[in-house]
Amino acid sequence: MADIIRLCLIGLGRTGKEVAKVLLKRKDMDIVMAVCSSGSDKIGKDLGQIIDSRDTGIIIDSCDALDENILKYKPDVAIDFSDPNATVRNAEILGKRKVNMVIGTTGFTEFQIKKLMNISKIHKIGIVYAPNITLGVNVLMVLTNLAASILEGYDCTIIESHFKNKKDSPSGTAKKIAKEVLKGMSGNTDIAAHDLDYSDVPIRSVRAGGIIGKHHVIMAGEYDKVEIVHESFTRTAFAVGAIKAVSFINKKVGFFEMSDVLDLRRVMTRYLEREANYKKQRFFNPEMQESEISV
Ligand SMILES: NC(=O)c1ccc[n+]([C@@H]2O[C@H](COP(=O)([O-])OP(=O)(O)OC[C@H]3O[C@@H](n4cnc5c(N)ncnc54)[C@H](OP(=O)(O)O)[C@@H]3O)[C@@H](O)[C@H]2O)c1
Repeated sequence: MADIIRLCLIGLGRTGKEVAKVLLKRKDMDIVMAVCSSGSDKIGKDLGQIIDSRDTGIIIDSCDALDENILKYKPDVAIDFSDPNATVRNAEILGKRKVNMVIGTTGFTEFQIKKLMNISKIHKIGIVYAPNITLGVNVLMVLTNLAASILEGYDCTIIESHFKNKKDSPSGTAKKIAKEVLKGMSGNTDIAAHDLDYSDVPIRSVRAGGIIGKHHVIMAGEYDKVEIVHESFTRTAFAVGAIKAVSFINKKVGFFEMSDVLDLRRVMTRYLEREANYKKQRFFNPEMQESEISV
């Protein structure tokens, strides 16, 4: 049996608490540290206390004690849903102590993202940078890229909706979707992400009530339109993505995104090969029944 992955959970807000609930049910992963902000009223409480479950034996501690707690509890991977400035500060410590990271926090500046890349390079740790951690929204991105590359001359607009107090606007995911649109439109396979300016695609942000997260891409031409929508209706979707990313990054070195975690390149190649194989079989065996063709 594979080793149990020891986890450090950083950020115990709306999302971090949901991730904790899902992780506590797993046998292959163990939360060994739960980290809150310095001065938080969560310090010293049992993790179970803040997620309305029975005591877990995991005592929440401040990020100020991150370094000494890493030495004590030896986590393999940290899952971070906190705040961009906090993430960068904590990443320096995690990097020095060789703890890999899954970063779900959003709202980083380009400079901060480069800093995270550098931390992974200098300290030789693995980081999954996932401003878009749900599996479904990653499917939306692939579909958007494909649609943009086919629908020449169509106008694209992105509408993203989130809860009232979400700090960043537009969402990190909406910016990434905009870049997928531009990549698809350019048709250029060598284009670098930093050469793309997300503001070239109109993004409308809605901040209302308790909406967890919805991204809606509209591509309209003169005569028809395509709409691609993804909606998370429970924060468990973020936990599922984070767990997949943890399994991927454990013991790896390098800076990755969710497209690497989901191995989208292999999925697309497999799709193209399957389609080509199907067409070949039909061409060489025209009398073959549909049910006899291997797919
Ligand atoms: N990637 C995705 O798909 C995805 C999905 C959902 C959310 N997010 C992002 O994840 C982040 C958190 O979202 P949320 O909705 O859970 O926000 P939230 O409810 O405000 O939770 C953030 C938590 O981080 C804690 N924190 C602040 N500084 C910290 C530090 N130095 N060390 C440890 N913890 C610290 C906060 O304070 P206390 O410790 O005092 O409680 C708070 O509990 C946001 O950036 C959000 O956009 C991303």
